[in-house]
Amino acid sequence: MKRNSVVVLLLMASFYTSAQNGKAKIKIDIERKTGTIDRLIYGNFTEHLGRCIYGGIYDPASPQADANGFRKDVIEATKNLGVSVIRWPGGNFVSGYHWEDGIGPKEKRPHRKDLAWGDIETNEVGTDEWLKFSEATGAAAYVCVNMGTGSLDEARNWVEYCNGKQGLYYSDLRAKNGHPAPYRVKYWGLGNEMDGPWQMGHKNAEDYSKFALEAAKLMKWSDDSIKLIASGSSNYVRDWAEWDRTVLNHLHDYIDYISLHHYSGNQEKDHNKFMAVTTQVENSIRITEGIINEVRSKYKMTKPIYIAFDEYNVWYRAWNEQKLEEHYNMQDALVVALYLNVFVRNAHIVKMANMAQLVNVIAPMMVTDGKLWLQPIYFPLQLFAQNCQGSNLNTLVQCDRYDAGDFKQVPYLDVTSVYNEKLGEVVVNVVNRHKDKAIETTISNQFGKFDTKGKVAEVNANLDDENSPSMQKVKIQNKEIAVSEKEFTYSFPAHSFTQIRIKIKS
Ligand code: AHR
Repeated sequence: MKRNSVVVLLLMASFYTSAQNGKAKIKIDIERKTGTIDRLIYGNFTEHLGRCIYGGIYDPASPQADANGFRKDVIEATKNLGVSVIRWPGGNFVSGYHWEDGIGPKEKRPHRKDLAWGDIETNEVGTDEWLKFSEATGAAAYVCVNMGTGSLDEARNWVEYCNGKQGLYYSDLRAKNGHPAPYRVKYWGLGNEMDGPWQMGHKNAEDYSKFALEAAKLMKWSDDSIKLIASGSSNYVRDWAEWDRTVLNHLHDYIDYISLHHYSGNQEKDHNKFMAVTTQVENSIRITEGIINEVRSKYKMTKPIYIAFDEYNVWYRAWNEQKLEEHYNMQDALVVALYLNVFVRNAHIVKMANMAQLVNVIAPMMVTDGKLWLQPIYFPLQLFAQNCQGSNLNTLVQCDRYDAGDFKQVPYLDVTSVYNEKLGEVVVNVVNRHKDKAIETTISNQFGKFDTKGKVAEVNANLDDENSPSMQKVKIQNKEIAVSEKEFTYSFPAHSFTQIRIKIKS
């Protein structure tokens, strides 16, 4: 596991301008589109870890189990969350996972010790089972291969097992195991966090790149319709960008994405610093985008390479021995909204993102004593996934700023606006980072006319409020507001996330 220690360069967005003495201004212009939002940025992740798979998505003994042993309440909450893609089976777990352990008759599957997390893996849930789960949720499947202890043959045979037409050894095995039709898994990861010494089979950048290149070739030759994600930086220490540069130089012809990971925490119990942590995330995206551009221009490439931010979340209280069952509060929900604003603001280059993880393990939903309940971080992700489709808009924001440690000139308001052309709707996403002050803001429209009313969804509670199986203190509150054609004023409550949706006519 890495902790974030990206050098804080604070390349704050140029469209944030300076102090307004308590009042703020947001200008929206639907002609200033900067990138199309890919629905895949509203993804999640399920790893064989603690109670994510066993006791989370899969629990055949539960009254909630469907015919395949998967929890219907988890499937329902995943659909309601609007999850677009799910990554599996790890995470650190995948670097010791041999996928053939998890196919065929369950009673014959081996039990093995998972050296990443120390659990015993029974292999009850393997490829065929997990793909049934992801299909039931309606999300696209994203399978990550073992680039730690795994082999090139394992990688390409897994593609053949999932996607091959009948008549080949592994695709016929899939048919024998009950699924004659190819699964058509589109997204494939070339290993997990291979830059980290905690990873089984960790390699240096050169060795990883050479191995991953050979795997990529064989996987694409097995099915040239798949999209590949290279394992990028997760370990933001000295020279982290060099890892990405090396990987991109070797793999550029084969990959469609390079991954980034980031976890944040409030170990210092400093609200202002915690609220600024996603400026590091934005910096790592900009630096990686620069390296992608450098490599694409060096090789005169026309094919794009995007960023898949395939692990992010708040994670600092629950470590290994606690099975990573983090209990989230309102403050953490704000950080998740900030991550999502970063992904939307960088929609031109971030084309996939996966909250780590889906259930029980650092997750938006929990199953406690058989009952499903929703953590505070569920709600910002749900609002973004349900309502933010279309294009990101370059949005002018003027507001007061603050300094906190290495973080300088952090705007109190973190804002994105999105134009959904199909619905003729603008969506404004605002995190007020201020611990105790509401911020009165003028929102003006540069093009066309706002409708007379707007729909407001607000996530707001005491900063340390948590949810539990019996009490949902943090949730979405909805209301309608009156709006004028060109300008209106709204007061964003202290430490809140607000999403305003307004129809717009040209
Ligand atoms: O999501 C938990 C762990 O965090 C993953 O297994 C690993 O990739 C990262 O370090």
